[in-house]
Amino acid sequence: MNLLSREFNLRLHLSFAKKRSVLSTRDMSQLDLTHRPRRNRRTAAIRKLVQENAVTANDLIQPLFVIDGEGEPEAIASMPGQMRWTLPTLIEECKELHTLGINAVALFPKLDTSLKNETGDEALNPETLVLRAVRAVKEAVPELAIITDVALDPYTSHGHDGVFNEAGTDIDNDVTVEKLAAMAVLNAEAGADYVAPSDMMDGRVWAIRDALDAAGLTGTGIMAYSAKFASAYYGPFRDAVGSAKAAGTTLLGKDTYQLNPANRREAMVETELDEIEGADILMVKPAGPYLDIIRDLRENTHLPVAAYQVSGEYAQIHAAAEKGWLDLERCRDESLLAIKRAGADMILTYFAKDVARAGNEGA
Ligand code: PBG
Repeated sequence: MNLLSREFNLRLHLSFAKKRSVLSTRDMSQLDLTHRPRRNRRTAAIRKLVQENAVTANDLIQPLFVIDGEGEPEAIASMPGQMRWTLPTLIEECKELHTLGINAVALFPKLDTSLKNETGDEALNPETLVLRAVRAVKEAVPELAIITDVALDPYTSHGHDGVFNEAGTDIDNDVTVEKLAAMAVLNAEAGADYVAPSDMMDGRVWAIRDALDAAGLTGTGIMAYSAKFASAYYGPFRDAVGSAKAAGTTLLGKDTYQLNPANRREAMVETELDEIEGADILMVKPAGPYLDIIRDLRENTHLPVAAYQVSGEYAQIHAAAEKGWLDLERCRDESLLAIKRAGADMILTYFAKDVARAGNEGA
């Protein structure tokens, strides 16, 4: 670097000196440069040769919302193109995703409010919606990897990821962890390839690994939402699964468990703990506004790194495109490439299907 810049300065100096002396005979517009980085961008062929990063369907995980019933899927207003799938339509969607080259889906149930309570008991019902969905997808498309979310927010009436302490002042860490471990075992037994704790309780990865192993489920992986920030970008997701209540409208937001968006070192504390506790894949979430954290994590672990391009990141690209202010496809591809370049091995994104389809069309 130093050598290069010294040579560069010298050249520039000589070239201007020379120019001054041959002013009348030489074209003033040509600099005497050794290094012209634009050479490597001259043609499309060359640009492809020197391209450092790429996003393919292999890297992408499609999150899917699930509802009970047999009928047509429901559209989600704040997430254009995304649906709440009923089980029969979920299966068709998964078959299509697999055909397009998508390797994995992450399932999120939206429950009827009548099934929710203070303690999220429905999460431990062995016939709860997400377990039926996992079994059905595994049977129909066994090659597809399934990731299930481990957190109580779809099941609690208040929308928090855990249960309240007796005083009702905070989410009780240890009681919640015990429930999450039981929930993870149910998910794994149903056929989930990875369970993905998204709750940010302390010690949950350890407790889940322990419970899975005790149940003989040694092959089920843990994709840990390790650096999950208390982000406003989850808004549309909370509409989609009906967990919006906790998002600041109740006494307590999720700030006592999710990370402060201002904190970079604390994110590394969380990821290191999850690695020690037995996580197989470490995740950063959201992705686009947290590229520095993805890069930090890439440089701090040898485990695979996942990043979650969340609902708000998806919604904002769609909203601007709808207004004609941004090009949807180009911003989609650029946003995912940036996440890849930052160091993510895999990306959970609502754009997964669109990107796979565009890739197959040779775009
Ligand atoms: C819940 C969960 C959330 C998301 C994934 N799992 C929301 C939250 O923490 O309130 C967000 C995903 C998205 O916004 O796309 N544990």
